[in-house]
Amino acid sequence: MSKLKIMSVFGTRPEAIKMAPLVQELAKHPEIESICCLTGQHREMLDSVMEIFNLKGDYDLDIMEKSQTLSTITTKTLLGMDRVIDTAKPDMILVHGDTSTTFAGALAAFYHQIPVGHVEAGLRTWDKYSPFPEEINRTLTGDIATLHFAPTIANRENLLRESIQGEIFITGNTAIDSMKYSVRDDYRFHTEALNELDFKNRRVIVLTCHRRENYGKPMEDILSAIRELTLAHPEIDVVYPVHLSPVVRECAGRILGGLKNVHLIDPVDVQEMHNLMARSYMVMTDSGGLQEEAPALGKPVLVLRRETERPEAIGAGTVKLAGVEKETVYAMASELLESEEAYHKMAKAVNPYGDGNACPRIAQAILWHFGRTAERPADFMA
Ligand code: UD1
Ligand code: UDP
Repeated sequence: MSKLKIMSVFGTRPEAIKMAPLVQELAKHPEIESICCLTGQHREMLDSVMEIFNLKGDYDLDIMEKSQTLSTITTKTLLGMDRVIDTAKPDMILVHGDTSTTFAGALAAFYHQIPVGHVEAGLRTWDKYSPFPEEINRTLTGDIATLHFAPTIANRENLLRESIQGEIFITGNTAIDSMKYSVRDDYRFHTEALNELDFKNRRVIVLTCHRRENYGKPMEDILSAIRELTLAHPEIDVVYPVHLSPVVRECAGRILGGLKNVHLIDPVDVQEMHNLMARSYMVMTDSGGLQEEAPALGKPVLVLRRETERPEAIGAGTVKLAGVEKETVYAMASELLESEEAYHKMAKAVNPYGDGNACPRIAQAILWHFGRTAERPADFMA
């Protein structure tokens, strides 16, 4: 029997971090030929992940432009994928999550009538403009996909509510697979600014903020709250690896630049990030991925958004929605700094998003779909 050609398509940092362990897992199966098509929606931030996981793209559309628009990402990916699909002729295309690469990759596959497997399927806020454009990217990708790899039971329920076509598997999130080997007690940072931090005697807050719907006033209010927090608490350090988006960099530099206990650094590689979070006091973020990783490390998270498609850790008590209003963000962060009781309530390690075995489940589901194994993978149970 010929090998199944499975093509993984990804292009941004979070997709790469969460697809890398799956690409490695697929390569272990003799029945599968695993290939990668990178869109290059992110250039430096994608390359850094590929290097860490020792992976190479078989195809690279290299689409990134400075201050790119949603339309340029989508059209360049769609046109580039046409050529790659004609050449590679994959049996299935895997996409991840909810970026423009995800949606355009799935759409290109659909135009060629190639089945799509959607990794991290079924996350929803039910608000089409928040997160923007991710909610619609993932909903449309779900409409196209044949196999849906839902991380949690709640994600599967969202898909059932939409009467989605295809097969749903509950797999856990591959983010947790990615973390398995990265956090080590003896880890030494190669970013000098991180080695200079005194994690033993000072409380370090990890901050990230990059979402498009936070551009403008919400981001200014969030970062102003952080500014006031660090002025009121000279005993804390805030570390902010600033996303390479020019909009984000301008705002971060303007509001937080020059403060003694705020460390604005370039994005760090994923091992640095995981080990930084593991040594931190808490995390403040509008990122999706950090909401999954920090709870596994026992770190409280304040989410700098109005909603989240990841309610599981809120239910478990380790994540709270802080919103985007300056006063609320400031008050919620102050409480975690000033009340030991409030802090300890949130600082517990929970794993509602996965057990580190999402990738083997997804590989087995693909083999099952193509009739190469009789056993459907057992669902992940939190
Ligand atoms: C994208 C995703 C978002 C995801 C985020 C993760 C879309 C529409 N958005 O948003 O869902 O949460 O990635 O980080 O798909 N840049 C560089 N080098 C890089 C990466 C980015 O210079 O390695 C700069 C470029 O100027 C680029 C800009 O950042 O134009 C914005 O990148 P883009 O992918 O359009 O948006 P993100 O905000 O990163
Ligand atoms: N991350 C990283 N370096 C950084 C900031 C984040 O490696 O400087 C990792 C983080 O650990 C997580 C992922 O990037 O795995 C999250 O990506 P991002 O916040 O860009 O996107 P989102 O998850 O919001 O889509």
